[in-house]
Amino acid sequence: MHYFGFKKGELYCENIRVRDIAKKTGTPVYIYSKRTVIEHFQKIDAAFFEVDHLICYSLKANASMGIIKTLQQEGCGADIVSGGELYKALEAGIAPGKIVYAGVGKTKEEMAAALKNNIFMFNLESLPEAVRLNAVAGKLKKIAEVAIRVNPDVDADTHRYITTGKKENKFGVNISKAGEVFRTVAGLKNLKVSGIHTHIGSQITNIEPYVLTLKKIIALRQELLPAGINISRLNIGGGLGIIYKNETPATPAEFAKRVLPLLKPLGVKVILEPGRFIVGNAGILVSEVQYIKKGEVKNYIILDAGMNDLIRPSLYEAFHEIVAVKKTAGRFKADVVGPICESGDFFGKGRILPKVKEGDLIAVMSAGAYGFSMASNYNCRRKPAEVLVAGSKFKVVRRRESFEDLLKGEVYK
Ligand SMILES: Cc1ncc(COP(=O)(O)O)c(C=O)c1O
Repeated sequence: MHYFGFKKGELYCENIRVRDIAKKTGTPVYIYSKRTVIEHFQKIDAAFFEVDHLICYSLKANASMGIIKTLQQEGCGADIVSGGELYKALEAGIAPGKIVYAGVGKTKEEMAAALKNNIFMFNLESLPEAVRLNAVAGKLKKIAEVAIRVNPDVDADTHRYITTGKKENKFGVNISKAGEVFRTVAGLKNLKVSGIHTHIGSQITNIEPYVLTLKKIIALRQELLPAGINISRLNIGGGLGIIYKNETPATPAEFAKRVLPLLKPLGVKVILEPGRFIVGNAGILVSEVQYIKKGEVKNYIILDAGMNDLIRPSLYEAFHEIVAVKKTAGRFKADVVGPICESGDFFGKGRILPKVKEGDLIAVMSAGAYGFSMASNYNCRRKPAEVLVAGSKFKVVRRRESFEDLLKGEVYK
């Protein structure tokens, strides 16, 4: 579900023509629909209304302030993985009491900053990390509230780069060792162990891996009781999939229907960390056709956007629907590529598209998650502008980088 669509052959975002936005901002530009972001948040929130819950938007999916602030105004929390994400979450006004902090490599400085700001809790990924947090908290005379991330050894049935809950992945402590780790961590005097955290992967379309994971961590919770460890918070992570092509992902309501019967009897607080579900379909990348090149064996549509702007097709061979912003007559088959000096710089291969020409606009759909947040300056390209649309109005929430921005921080004179 999203608010991008065609009216009289023209692509709109909510009530504005995409072409009109691009004319003002130039290209490439990311365009986000505020209503889509809000409704996706509300869908998850509503699905879990029967239990005490906290939705922590996973900033890594899209950490643009326009998006974070939109969610903050809805009462959403944040799932962070770095000092930078902590900084942006707080700057956007997210209540510290709604921030959870995951990630396998937290530094002492990052831990101290999170403790000083009294975040809701840490999701610890290893015993050495617990030992370090205990020391940092002790120095600050604080007690850190923690969950331990458990790797349940469950296959989330998604791309191998975004599956995180198998025993060969670097995340969390293995379920077979988890009891022992919880008991050791519970003995560290500056930590309070109150949660179990899991996050088994991203773009998950099937509910079964979640159910399997949940059953495993509920059994673990039970196993911890005799040791006096009372787990009052279960964090079931993010990962809910979206439609890029022809997937049939479970809806939040369907997801809740399966997991709530397991969670409700426990009386625990449920934490969710959705990223892609909230912003994935809420954004598009709009780019101008530079050239139509007839190669030896293929046609190429060469855009002014590249893999530095949206790396998902190159990195994960991810599929994104590609459309002409204005429908035109005729069709032809082409690879849609960027200007970067890499053969991996493509958005789609062998696509049948309207007969676009130089100067026409193309939109890469469902680019709101892991799009701008993974953008880089590769080939000294300036990062694109970002626009947030609300009804008939739009706002540039990030200006296009300037050439001076490319020199920022460099010492050379
Ligand atoms: C710990 C954690 N939580 C939540 C997320 C968000 O995942 P998604 O965007 O698939 O919802 C991620 C993504 O990698 C993650 O690592």
